[in-house]
Amino acid sequence: MNSNRLLPNGFFGLLEDVHTDVSHEVERLEEAVHNLQFEGKASLGRNLKQIRATLHFFSSSLAKHIELEEKVLFPFLGSHIPKLEPVIHLLIAEHEDFKRNYEDLGLFLDSLSDQTSETDRGKMIKKIQETGTYVVYLLKNHLRVEDRGVYGVAEEELRGEEKKELEGAIVKFLGRS
Ligand SMILES: [Fe+2]
Ligand SMILES: [Fe+2]
Repeated sequence: MNSNRLLPNGFFGLLEDVHTDVSHEVERLEEAVHNLQFEGKASLGRNLKQIRATLHFFSSSLAKHIELEEKVLFPFLGSHIPKLEPVIHLLIAEHEDFKRNYEDLGLFLDSLSDQTSETDRGKMIKKIQETGTYVVYLLKNHLRVEDRGVYGVAEEELRGEEKKELEGAIVKFLGRS
């Protein structure tokens, strides 16, 4: 047991736990989007409800995690492990891509109830499927790259003192927001 730790499993444990939660939510989204395509009208309401629940998770837990990465983790890692800079740029660009697409998904869901004709509803459902599928693909890949290419490297290469400093900054950020 390391008594210097501010977080029970260290900050990598905390970040990995968030990624596990995100992965589970992405799986739920994947299933709902898939069912939207194949189950048809019978379970439309249930699948749309799941997509809404996922969007809520994205705008709360995931948005907070992204903010922590962009404001605390990535700037620290970029300056202490310069070789990570290119991958960090890519990950930030993916955050933007993700935000755009998840906002679109919310707009498509909102406008679905405004569509009166079957054809227009069908078109909107197709847009929800396509955007949802893209968000699933994007996040799965994003988590994989972060786990292997950033968190893993940081865990191996940061010195003990640096880890302590970063952990302190993360705890401060989480306590503040
Ligand atoms: Fe990220
Ligand atoms: Fe992440």
